[in-house]
Amino acid sequence: MHAVVLVGGFGTRLRPLTLTTPKPLLPIANVRQLEHLIANLGAAGVTEVVLAIGFKPEPFLQAFPDGVCAGIPLHYAVEPEPLDTAGAIAFAARHAGVSDTFIVMNGDILCDLDLSSLVAFHKEHGAEGTLHLTPVDDPSQYGVVEINDAGWVQRFVEKPQPGETTSNVVNAGTYVLEPSVLNRIPEGERMSIERVVFPAMVADGTLAAMPTNDYWIDTGLPHTYLQSNLDLIDGTRTRILASVGAHAHVHATASITHSVIGENAIIEDGCVIIDSVVLPGAHIGSRVRLEKSLVMGTVGSDSSLLNCVIGADAQVMPNTHLIDARVPHPDEAK
Ligand code: GTP
Repeated sequence: MHAVVLVGGFGTRLRPLTLTTPKPLLPIANVRQLEHLIANLGAAGVTEVVLAIGFKPEPFLQAFPDGVCAGIPLHYAVEPEPLDTAGAIAFAARHAGVSDTFIVMNGDILCDLDLSSLVAFHKEHGAEGTLHLTPVDDPSQYGVVEINDAGWVQRFVEKPQPGETTSNVVNAGTYVLEPSVLNRIPEGERMSIERVVFPAMVADGTLAAMPTNDYWIDTGLPHTYLQSNLDLIDGTRTRILASVGAHAHVHATASITHSVIGENAIIEDGCVIIDSVVLPGAHIGSRVRLEKSLVMGTVGSDSSLLNCVIGADAQVMPNTHLIDARVPHPDEAK
């Protein structure tokens, strides 16, 4: 079975980290997000993953030079220009010659869903497409999906007002599709699957959906990216990964609490690091205090950062104290 993984977004919400590394290649507990996701696809019997790349294929080619990720062969489908979600799925599926039931996943989600159960649900329903749904606490911020007792989608309600719907489940970004869905997407056209193709399938009564309570997170925002890392080291998920990456240098007097330290990162003497992710290659100077922050670049000695995101090219000067900052600021970054 093929799976198409959408990795062509701009990742604007996670800037400045995504200015240098595409979101699916950012590590989550020192394993690239894409590897977590493809390992899950492999466990469900996927034999080839088609990467739907909207622009800049080079970082992906460099990350997987032998064309294999988590033991699964990769097929690269690079759009001539970003085609939005439906356009990208159709371009990638045609490029790889997909002619049977296939899985689609957004490249910026992590979940513990057993994908084979979603495929089985899809086949039992004889659906043209099947969505995975996940519950959210505050549906007013999302596009909510209403389903009937038999598991067929009835309606999408975008950012519902109080009382507008009783549903609290949203599109979780994983789909099982029949190749006939491709006939709904004209070749080379920019089109959204969520806003155009799925509503048309609801009108035809061919879109099913399966809600589950499995662990699920959209890693596309700084606080959710941070959370997805910490969830993998503290037992929130079924797996627990090591919190310190290979060849990281952590000084004996540094105190690290509930944090992930990336490969080859340097943490100097007297640092206090709490609830944070220090990404591969980052350099944290002496006596720095980091709390709830994401750091890719360099932080000078005696600084303190709370709720900050520091990009790869950034250098925070010694003795700088920042709260809620992004460096460089996404609007100023080239
Ligand atoms: P933001 O810019 O922060 O909103 O992130 P994003 O660009 O990744 O957007 P969004 O989260 O809405 O995208 C959902 C999924 O579709 C992600 O996995 C994106 O990588 C992917 N995606 C969005 N647009 C395109 C596109 O034009 N081409 C391809 N190949 N993938 C896309």
